[in-house]
Amino acid sequence: MCGIVGYVGDKDAYPLLINGLKRLEYRGYDSAGVALIGSQGLRIHKCQGKVSDLEAHMRDVDRSGNVGIGHTRWATHGAPNDVNAHPHVSTSGDLALIHNGIIENYAPLKEELRSRGHTFRSETDTEVLVNLIEDIQRSEEVDLPEAVRLALENVVGAYAIAVIDRKSPGMLVAARKSSPLVIGIGEHGEHYLASDATPIVEHTKNVVYMEDGEIAIIDRTKGLKIRNVKNQEKTPFIQALEMHLETLEKGGYDHFMLKEIHEQPRSIRDSMRGRLNLAQGEVVLGGIKDYEQKFVNAKRILILGCGTSWHAGLVGEYLFEELARIPVEVEYASEFRYRNPIIHEDDIVIAISQSGETADTLAAIELAKGRGATIIGICNVVGSSIPRVTHAGSYTHAGPEIGVASTKAFTAQVTVLTLMALMVGHKKGTISGSRFHRLLNELDAIPSKVEQVLKNEAQIKYIADIYKNATNALYLGRGYTFPVALEGALKLKEISYIHAEGYPAAEMKHGPIALIDEEMPVFVIATKGASYEKVVSNIQEVKARKGKVIAIVTEGDTVVKGLADHAIAIPETPDALVPLLSVVPMQLISYHIAVMLGRNVDQPRNLAKSVTVE
Ligand code: G6P
Repeated sequence: MCGIVGYVGDKDAYPLLINGLKRLEYRGYDSAGVALIGSQGLRIHKCQGKVSDLEAHMRDVDRSGNVGIGHTRWATHGAPNDVNAHPHVSTSGDLALIHNGIIENYAPLKEELRSRGHTFRSETDTEVLVNLIEDIQRSEEVDLPEAVRLALENVVGAYAIAVIDRKSPGMLVAARKSSPLVIGIGEHGEHYLASDATPIVEHTKNVVYMEDGEIAIIDRTKGLKIRNVKNQEKTPFIQALEMHLETLEKGGYDHFMLKEIHEQPRSIRDSMRGRLNLAQGEVVLGGIKDYEQKFVNAKRILILGCGTSWHAGLVGEYLFEELARIPVEVEYASEFRYRNPIIHEDDIVIAISQSGETADTLAAIELAKGRGATIIGICNVVGSSIPRVTHAGSYTHAGPEIGVASTKAFTAQVTVLTLMALMVGHKKGTISGSRFHRLLNELDAIPSKVEQVLKNEAQIKYIADIYKNATNALYLGRGYTFPVALEGALKLKEISYIHAEGYPAAEMKHGPIALIDEEMPVFVIATKGASYEKVVSNIQEVKARKGKVIAIVTEGDTVVKGLADHAIAIPETPDALVPLLSVVPMQLISYHIAVMLGRNVDQPRNLAKSVTVE
């Protein structure tokens, strides 16, 4: 939510900033802006809209400068317009600041600053912070880094900020608390700053992930210094980035989302690599090795997440309860933290997050950790905040996911949860050896089965064309596929803006059935398995009310094929693994409908991928 970039060095800052912003646009695309310091002093350019709008606006202006900051916004305080766009400037015009996060006590600070002569142009909390820094700089007569440090002592909230000062033209000061910041260290003494490593990777592989409470002072001549809020100097911990540039490009696909859907055979394989060992007949999850016994002894598992990650957690509930016989509760992180949840010291909490930055999930982890629970992370972005606050975890290895609607991250999360549940069930003896080995073999075959599902794309596109003008859609699943129904509905909503609801198939008769008429597409996951016959009955109920049924069936099925208006076949696999296959047609349906409706598939309206506000 909001993307930040910065540059200090000898090169022209502008092209680096604008390209960096394009990489971070998934974090918000309400407005964009840059501030540059060069021979012409400090210049700010910003406008409502996307980074491409800013780029167009910049065509006719002076873009020179070797120090600069840039921002792409997801609006929280104040409408998405030019005035509220970042960077924000202090009353004197000397300081420019960009911010990702929320300053919660901005209102009293604003009043106080007003009484001290500061003026405000925007409705943002950020403008308060830049004026607070200036106020301290002047009243305390301190330099920029110290003014930032003192200002942050007065601030309640979350932030990643970068600030530059017309009077210190070779310097950039950055700070973080609960919102991410990465510094790239270039070969020739130049420095890059960004909300994640994607804008940095093409310039350098040497990065420093800033910790909460740290302030970075980047100086063109003196290099990088990091201090903490107590003003103690810290040695920057430089790490090598393991990210490849080609993973950040569309690679010939029309959209990142389509590329990411098609990457799933590989991303699922990568999430199992080195973990699923067929030859030895074992699952080894190195990252949680020291916590295996805790899992085995756990009386309860709590799974926390938001959005698609929460849906993956629901699949995890079915997996852990069935295979490892451990009671599981799956909670929206945002709900969990605002009640007084019962947490035991022997609880295992699994926090799932693609970005590793979701503010609600982070806060829920802190709460559970404070009450003594063991926290295991399942995250995709290496070096993000959540993996750094958990006790242990397993990365999903899906590779960068750029489309705002999550696809390959979901299947990677479910893959890791399956491996975990299998590992624990095997260690506990709650599944027989033969079933364990059969499931390992079946899981190993999933990537090639996903490839087979992807071959149905032409048929799925044909179906998408028939239903693209629907105003409502219903998604039904049962057991393991109920979370897939929720995920299918979410995909359709978020990228096509068609209202959709996911329901357990049996619950349909308790309400949603009233919505069914000949206009209503009903997507039903009706694969062969424990509840097959029951789902067939549910399909009959929909057909009796003239609803249109698009069924996901097991290859070779004839019964549902005879009933449904359309049947999309997926290869046979045990119930526990059906989510990994059945979600793929759901993703493709939504994708093609959204494209046919002319939606911005990778950047749907109002959404952002990394939600760093609560
Ligand atoms: C946003 C994204 C979703 C994502 C959710 C949770 O809403 O648009 O795609 O599922 O956040 O994000 P996380 O990074 O924690 O998985």
